[in-house]
Amino acid sequence: MNALPDPVLAVSGREADDLTDRRIRFANDAARELLRIQGERGLLVTAIRDPAVLEAADEALFGGIDAEATMEVGGALPRSFRVFARPLADDSERLALLVFREETELRRVERTRADFLANASHELRTPLASLTGFIETLRGHAREDAGARDRFLSIMQAQAQRMSRLIDDLMSLSRIELAERQAPCDPLDPAGAVLDVIDALAPGAQERQVTLQTQGLVRGAATILGDRDQVIQVAQNLIDNAIKYSPKGGIVRIAFQAQAPVDFVMAAGGGSRLALLTPDHGTDTYCELAISDCGPGIAREHLPRLTERFYRVEGQKSGERSGTGLGLAIVKHIMNRHRGGLSVESTPGAGATFRVCFPTVTVANVTMA
Ligand SMILES: Nc1ncnc2c1ncn2[C@@H]1O[C@H](COP(=O)(O)OP(=O)(O)O)[C@@H](O)[C@H]1O
Ligand SMILES: [Mg+2]
Repeated sequence: MNALPDPVLAVSGREADDLTDRRIRFANDAARELLRIQGERGLLVTAIRDPAVLEAADEALFGGIDAEATMEVGGALPRSFRVFARPLADDSERLALLVFREETELRRVERTRADFLANASHELRTPLASLTGFIETLRGHAREDAGARDRFLSIMQAQAQRMSRLIDDLMSLSRIELAERQAPCDPLDPAGAVLDVIDALAPGAQERQVTLQTQGLVRGAATILGDRDQVIQVAQNLIDNAIKYSPKGGIVRIAFQAQAPVDFVMAAGGGSRLALLTPDHGTDTYCELAISDCGPGIAREHLPRLTERFYRVEGQKSGERSGTGLGLAIVKHIMNRHRGGLSVESTPGAGATFRVCFPTVTVANVTMA
C-alpha cells in the first residue's frame, strides 16, 4: 500500500448519525503526505473537511455502496482529486476504502481547451461582425454611393482574408499537433529552405522599405532531419514578424550557423535571452538560425507568453496586415517536433532576436540509415 503512488485511506465508523466517530484506520505514505496526517488512527474530519468526500465515505460505510466525490486541495498550487469510496467487508465493524486519484493535469487541459475554443470563436467573430455590419450598410444608406461602396468592399475583402488566415493557421496548428510526437526522418538542407523563404518574402520587405541582410546562409551548409514545409513555416513566421515590426528603412538580419554547440544556442546571453523551448540534449551539434530586427522590441514580462495561442503584445503597431497571434505557437510546436529549440531576446526600443536550433546529422549517418 505504501508503494502505491495514489493516496489511499481505510476508514471506520460505528454510528451512522455520529459524524465525529469516523476514524482513519490506515493511511498509506501518499495519503499521509497529501492530507498531512501524523498520528495513528486520527479522526477523519480533521484530515478531510470536504463535506462531499465525507458523505461519499458514509455511503460506503453505512449504505454499503460505491460512491465518488471530487476534492480540491488548496495551497500555492491547488490540486484536484477524484475520491472513490468503496465498502470493505468486515464482521466486527464498518470499514471503507478511500482512493484518491489526482486530476489536476486533466482539469488544466480541460481549461486550456475551453479557453482556446473561446479565444478562437472570439477571433473569428470579430471579422465576421464587421462583415455583417458592412453588408447591412451596403444594403441601406450606402446603396447609391459608389465611393463608399468601393471603400467598404475593400474593407470587407480584408476582413474575409483575415478570417481565412485564421482558419489556415488553426488547421495548420492542429495538423502539427497531431504529428508532434513523430519526429521527421528525411534529410533536409535548412539553409536552402530559409533562402527560398527569403526569396518569397523579399518583394514584401522591399515594399515596406525593409532591408533583408543574410549571413552564413549557404546551401548545403548543414543537414537536419526535417519536414521541409514545416521548416519553411518556421522561417516564414519569424522573418515575417521581423519585417512586420520593423520601422521603415529598418534592417532585418538573418544569420545561419551550421555548427552551434547547444550551450551556446540556449545560453542565457546577457541575462536577457529566454528559452521558449529547450532542445533535447541528445545530440551535441545544432545549427542555428537567428533573426534580428530593429523594431520596438518586446518588454520582458511578455516574453514567456509569446508562444501562447492568440497572445499578442498590446498596443503594438504591426502595420496593415495584422497577424493572428498563432504564428509563434506554430513555430514552437514545429520546433518541438524537430527536437529543436527556440529562444528570444529583446531590449525594448532596440529590436528583438528570435533563434531556433535544429539537431544536425552528418551526411554519412544519413546515408547509412
Ligand atoms: N519581431 C518582433 N518584434 C516585436 N514584437 C514581436 C515580434 N515578433 C512577435 N512579436 C510579438 O509577439 C506576438 C505574437 O507573435 P505571432 O505569434 O507571430 O503573432 P502575430 O500573428 O501577431 O504575428 C505578436 O503579436 C507581437 O506582439
Ligand atoms: Mg506572426
